[in-house]
Amino acid sequence: MRLKGKSALVTGSARGIGRAFAEAYVREGATVAIADINLEAAEATASAIGPSAYAIRLDVTDQSSIEAAVKAVEAKTGGLDILINNAALFDLAPIVEISRASYDKLFSVNVAGTLFMLQAAARSMVARGKGGRIINMASQAGRRGEALVAVYCATKAAVISLTQSAGLDLIKHRINVNAIAPGVVDGEHWDHVDSLFAKYENRPKGEKKKLVGEGVPYGRMGRAEDLTGMAVFLASDEAEYIVAQTYNVDGGQWLS
Ligand SMILES: NC(=O)c1ccc[n+]([C@@H]2O[C@H](COP(=O)([O-])OP(=O)(O)OC[C@H]3O[C@@H](n4cnc5c(N)ncnc54)[C@H](O)[C@@H]3O)[C@@H](O)[C@H]2O)c1
Repeated sequence: MRLKGKSALVTGSARGIGRAFAEAYVREGATVAIADINLEAAEATASAIGPSAYAIRLDVTDQSSIEAAVKAVEAKTGGLDILINNAALFDLAPIVEISRASYDKLFSVNVAGTLFMLQAAARSMVARGKGGRIINMASQAGRRGEALVAVYCATKAAVISLTQSAGLDLIKHRINVNAIAPGVVDGEHWDHVDSLFAKYENRPKGEKKKLVGEGVPYGRMGRAEDLTGMAVFLASDEAEYIVAQTYNVDGGQWLS
């Protein structure tokens, strides 16, 4: 067990990739807060995972909710060791159709949510004096623009940049900040992405998903479980000297 006795909080872990991270961390011996805006789903996920998981309602766009979540973890486990900033929203539209509301929502969750959750976790870790690990969810979308995906791509580029700055600033407290950049990962998130592409590229539902899967050098879309090895590694003692990096876990997609 590589995370025995550790206390972790995974944002947006009621479903999808965050849920797979929480399951993997529990298998490795951690206690995990399933922190999600959807409390009912978080509770169902926590009870499916077992006694080492517990649910917290968290809205990463709300500062008091962020602070309450960190306090709840401190009260439950004595202190926070690992944060995964996983919650995010997706949208797409041609440049001439992007709405300010969509822009504000995505930047509020994906960028401000990541920064202020990271800040609250770091404050708690610094006060405790035992260091910690923070893992941000970036994306291959943060490494280059895409015609229809300007805002989401920009939010994920910001996550890569924040990972660098926070990583450089916090390592003096022995808090390692790194990020994971997935390619395309199947699940409810991508069902939503597929339906948006169907609308804007005038395709039948499911076609975009099939094409992107075929385009991955590995030969298929990612699965949430494909990312858990990196998430466990970055939280483990073996990653002690890794600072401010973003790792692609994408079946070769970014290079292709
Ligand atoms: N699925 C992919 O193809 C893919 C690719 C690259 C990167 N990513 C990134 O991986 C992460 C997880 O993606 P996923 O596919 O599991 O997404 P998902 O949409 O399935 O899950 C996101 C979770 O975040 C929660 N959430 C939304 N707003 C929130 C808020 N304000 N506060 C707290 N929780 C909130 C949702 O309730 C949901 O449970 C995201 O950061 C995403 O950008 C996903």
